Amino acid sequence: MNSVSPNLVSLATTKRIAVTGGAGFIGSHTVDRLLAAGVQVLVIDDWSHPSPEPAATETLRVDCGSDEAAEALARFKPNAVLHLASKGGVQVAARDPAGHARRSLASTIALYDAAIKAGAKRLVSASSGGTIYGDSQKLPARETARAAPLSAYGAAKRSEEVYLAALGKRHGVSTLALRYGNVYGPRQDGTGEAGVVAITCHRLLDGGSPRIFGDGMQTRDFTFVGDVADANVAALNSRRSGEANVGTGRETSVADVVAMLIGHSGRETPIEMAPAKEFEVRRVCLDPQRAARWLHWRPKVDIAEGLGTTFEWFAAQKGRP
Ligand SMILES: NC(=O)c1ccc[n+]([C@@H]2O[C@H](COP(=O)([O-])OP(=O)(O)OC[C@H]3O[C@@H](n4cnc5c(N)ncnc54)[C@H](O)[C@@H]3O)[C@@H](O)[C@H]2O)c1
Repeated sequence: MNSVSPNLVSLATTKRIAVTGGAGFIGSHTVDRLLAAGVQVLVIDDWSHPSPEPAATETLRVDCGSDEAAEALARFKPNAVLHLASKGGVQVAARDPAGHARRSLASTIALYDAAIKAGAKRLVSASSGGTIYGDSQKLPARETARAAPLSAYGAAKRSEEVYLAALGKRHGVSTLALRYGNVYGPRQDGTGEAGVVAITCHRLLDGGSPRIFGDGMQTRDFTFVGDVADANVAALNSRRSGEANVGTGRETSVADVVAMLIGHSGRETPIEMAPAKEFEVRRVCLDPQRAARWLHWRPKVDIAEGLGTTFEWFAAQKGRP
């Protein structure tokens, strides 16, 4: 994976960073980069999504919106907070929108409040470019396009952005919501509902057939996790406020991703076709120009390279050559 040395070097001035969801897929890659830069990292994660213990200066196993988390932040006094903790995706939130708001949105607001009270001067929060824009008329979608989520998950992410900006303005804290594309790469476990890349790698390596929901022509902006971790670091290092896409500006169909992974597996296999999932948007493609201007960030790993790296990582995990 490529490094982001200029950002890492200047992060030395931002010595203490708290990362919620730091044990998770995107969080663990980001924490690795922060630690490599000599930053003191407090990870707050409730391990609701099982993952290995991350390397961190300090870890706390609690809900990020809890009193314990607020007390830990007050003690740790982070210069900046990266909020990645979130439960459930589009389908989970659709089944129980109120429960999703209680579990994810309420915890997020409490976390923003606690971070500001602890004196953090920078808040960066994970949002979702794949759901915020709804069925966007113009692709690649820009941040200036109207947010029109079609799902409870997207609505909650948009609400988080609105709270983040409001609380930041009120308290003089700079805030940035990062609207990620469809993030994939090593360490994604594929146990959640999303993650077609991880799930397909598992199925192929376990001798099963890949499964596609719908006709496979739905597109996503597949963004490699190493690039997303770089964007997180760059965002922590910046003072820009607002929203920025973290995507590639390229759309790839799910059918093409599955075909590329079958190619990496060297297998000949039929594909199982399953009914399309509800509440999913048809096409996603995120314009990354604002992130380039604001954060000097550009994705470095294209889809062919990223899928190859990811497939090899899963193969190695399963002890395959
Ligand atoms: N992976 C993607 O494609 C993608 C796309 C868009 C946005 N996002 C967002 O990025 C963030 C990170 O996603 P990820 O893919 O790394 O997911 P993940 O499930 O691997 O990581 C999330 C982590 O947060 C923890 N967590 C959940 N709720 C918590 C809470 N209330 N308090 C403390 N910890 C809690 C989980 O245990 C997990 O370790 C999430 O906000 C997610 O919505 C991810």
